[in-house]
Amino acid sequence: MTASPLIEFIAREHPAFVHIPLGLVAVLPLAMLASFHPRQGRHLVATSFFIAAIGWLASTMALFSGLIWGRQINLIGPSGFLPVVANEKQVLQRILQIHILAALAGFIVGGICVLLLWRIWRRDFSIGSVGSEHRHHAGRRFWERGVGTPTLLVGLIWVGCWGFSGKLGGIMVFGNEATNRAAAEADKAKRNDVEAELPIRALDYASLEPAEAGPARSKAHGDRWRRVWVTASGIDDYKAGKQLPPGAYAVMSTFSDEKGKPSTEPGPLYMKETKADGSTAFAFYWARVPEALRKEFGNQDNVYWRSPDPKLATCLGCHEKGGTPAK
Ligand code: HEC
Repeated sequence: MTASPLIEFIAREHPAFVHIPLGLVAVLPLAMLASFHPRQGRHLVATSFFIAAIGWLASTMALFSGLIWGRQINLIGPSGFLPVVANEKQVLQRILQIHILAALAGFIVGGICVLLLWRIWRRDFSIGSVGSEHRHHAGRRFWERGVGTPTLLVGLIWVGCWGFSGKLGGIMVFGNEATNRAAAEADKAKRNDVEAELPIRALDYASLEPAEAGPARSKAHGDRWRRVWVTASGIDDYKAGKQLPPGAYAVMSTFSDEKGKPSTEPGPLYMKETKADGSTAFAFYWARVPEALRKEFGNQDNVYWRSPDPKLATCLGCHEKGGTPAK
């Protein structure tokens, strides 16, 4: 997705924009409290209403920019509104979920607060009713003056929701123990997974035992010319047509066809492995997808899929239970 520079700016500056509504809502309870003053009530109810209204309106921009930002950095799906938390290790996604829910709760409470303030301002202090100030306060108890205690409470809940949301936002931007630990763990997992970037063992296929003396045609794998290579630990089982033992793997190097002969144009590498726990894993690697075929590969010029990538479901369709399918 290529966004306009303006959208780009709105998204990126989310951590800055949020301070406008946050700042306004932080001073709102002060203005509301001050409205309990016996003589300044009228002005401070109006002030409270304006602070609340502007803060609430400004927050729509903050919500919008947060959504766009979340989508741009792929924490939220392209048409989603909340991040999907797939497992409990996704600390950032989980914090973001609560961050968004707290922000939305604040938005709803804020809307109610603005409405209440507007009604109080119109009812008790609207222009034209001269002397209303006096009527309003005469005979009222302290907590019934100004914006009134219930509205003050709603305002405080509003601050609470956004304060909490803001705290989580700060954690996501600057990190805390949990997010830092999750990032460190992800880093370590990647470092331990030597094939995260490239299928190193598959690329080294020529060091394995050739299972076939020369190339043969493979209808099952794009009608290419194939040659199968198997680890020494699995070659006997492979030749006997059995499933490879744990730790063993087979790589199929391929070439495209040229008038019934293997061409020099290298095709993808296919890999099938029996993991230590007996399960089967697949990999598909194509260093350079030819121009004409890129449409079939999501317009990528380079493809590297590994189990459990759903794009490898077709492999499982034929290689059920990890065995070599009958030809
Ligand atoms: C249409 C069925 C079919 C599909 C789909 C398929 N295969 Fe195969 N595969 C076979 C058959 C049949 C063989 C035996 C050799 C041959 O016929 O080329 C084989 C052989 C292999 C081999 C050589 C080791 C062995 O078990 O013989 C590997 C590695 C392999 N496939 C990987 C893959 C991967 C990775 C995918 C998915 C990207 C895949 N295959 C998709 C049918 C299929």
